[in-house]
Amino acid sequence: MSFQKQSPKARPAFARWMSSGNDITQQFLSIGGRPDMVSLAGGLPAAELYPVAEIAQASERALARFGSVALEYGPCEGLPALREAIAARISASAGRRFGPENVLLTTGAMQGLDLLGKALIDPGDLIVAQFPTYLGALDAWRPRQPRYEKLDWSCEGQGFEAALRQAKFVYAVPNYSNPTGVLVPQQQRAALLDKVLAAGTWLVEDDPYLPLQLDGEAGPSILAAHAASHPEGPYDGPVVYLGTLSKSLVPGLRVGWVVAEAGMIATLALAKQSTDLSSSMLTQAVALELIEGGFKAGHIPQIVATYRDRRDALCAAASQHLAEWFSWEIPPGGMFVWMKARSPEIDTNALYAFALEEKVAFVPSSVFDPDGGLTDAMRVNFTRSSPEVIVEGVRRLERAVRRYLAARPGRAA
Ligand SMILES: Cc1ncc(COP(=O)(O)O)c(C=O)c1O
Repeated sequence: MSFQKQSPKARPAFARWMSSGNDITQQFLSIGGRPDMVSLAGGLPAAELYPVAEIAQASERALARFGSVALEYGPCEGLPALREAIAARISASAGRRFGPENVLLTTGAMQGLDLLGKALIDPGDLIVAQFPTYLGALDAWRPRQPRYEKLDWSCEGQGFEAALRQAKFVYAVPNYSNPTGVLVPQQQRAALLDKVLAAGTWLVEDDPYLPLQLDGEAGPSILAAHAASHPEGPYDGPVVYLGTLSKSLVPGLRVGWVVAEAGMIATLALAKQSTDLSSSMLTQAVALELIEGGFKAGHIPQIVATYRDRRDALCAAASQHLAEWFSWEIPPGGMFVWMKARSPEIDTNALYAFALEEKVAFVPSSVFDPDGGLTDAMRVNFTRSSPEVIVEGVRRLERAVRRYLAARPGRAA
């Protein structure tokens, strides 16, 4: 899965980090638009559930309410009324006050990750990251050349504490993680928070999938749990929380947010100044209309019911067509099933080429590993396509696996 970006001869070379990335995200964003392909690759919502009419109405209301302000450059920190609204929601979930000074609005959560890299990482700095790791975070931080250690959720061992003491930050997606769909138990989150507090580092909690609770409840975020135990005064804890509208509403508004202690927010706002001056004021104003009017909250049960059916369709089809070679846990939420090869000899980088020939796409595990060495699993999305299309995709995957196995050296074709 490597990607060699070379500048034309006789022109200055591209920066060194460009040769260490991969273009899998670009690939699956473009594959998603091809009618001949079944894409089980991207982390995309069901487009037919996008509330187009409601967003048109919210846009009209936003323009009537904010006028030219919605078409301006805005404050780096974001539309003040939306900062207030996000702070109020977080305050309600945490049972203590957060103010607008604790909120930075970003161009998607992806920009929050990028700004954290810009503000915190010098070359060689250590990040202790949940493993396998969301590839967008790895992409965002690659130019900063960090080192990684795996986050051990058991939080045991001297080595782990020493790593935390050296780390610039810990990175975790505890709710229905990308790529594994895992829901980290509250006890493990609490243990991690204790160790983070003792080590004096930051804890980045990336939480785009919180609304997609398909079975049962996720419980409080690490931010909410920590804040509730320190209810007095301004929030001054180590948790830097990232949220987004991308998975629960639409990704195209590109509205995300960071919630943290005020000094971190001011620093990230400074980093944002030289990134895009400000996020779109228009889409922030539209988002405000959708949140304040209660539309967003009312929309979630519909998407959750749809995604539950799709997850079940994927897992049932996989039991029929893929269980000989892969195993998985049924994820209690989110967008992905993480399928692990029963034999380490199955290399999903190589399988990927066969899958594309069969016109089905998944994401090979190697791109979720900073070193690229994790080659025996794949991330399979269940939210984008109808159950019928998912089943067809799984049939194509079975054909790809059979052809891949038959073509391996030493095997008769
Ligand atoms: C864990 C995680 N963080 C951040 C993002 C980026 O979200 P956004 O669309 O808000 O930029 C994603 C999107 O897939 C994600 O899975």
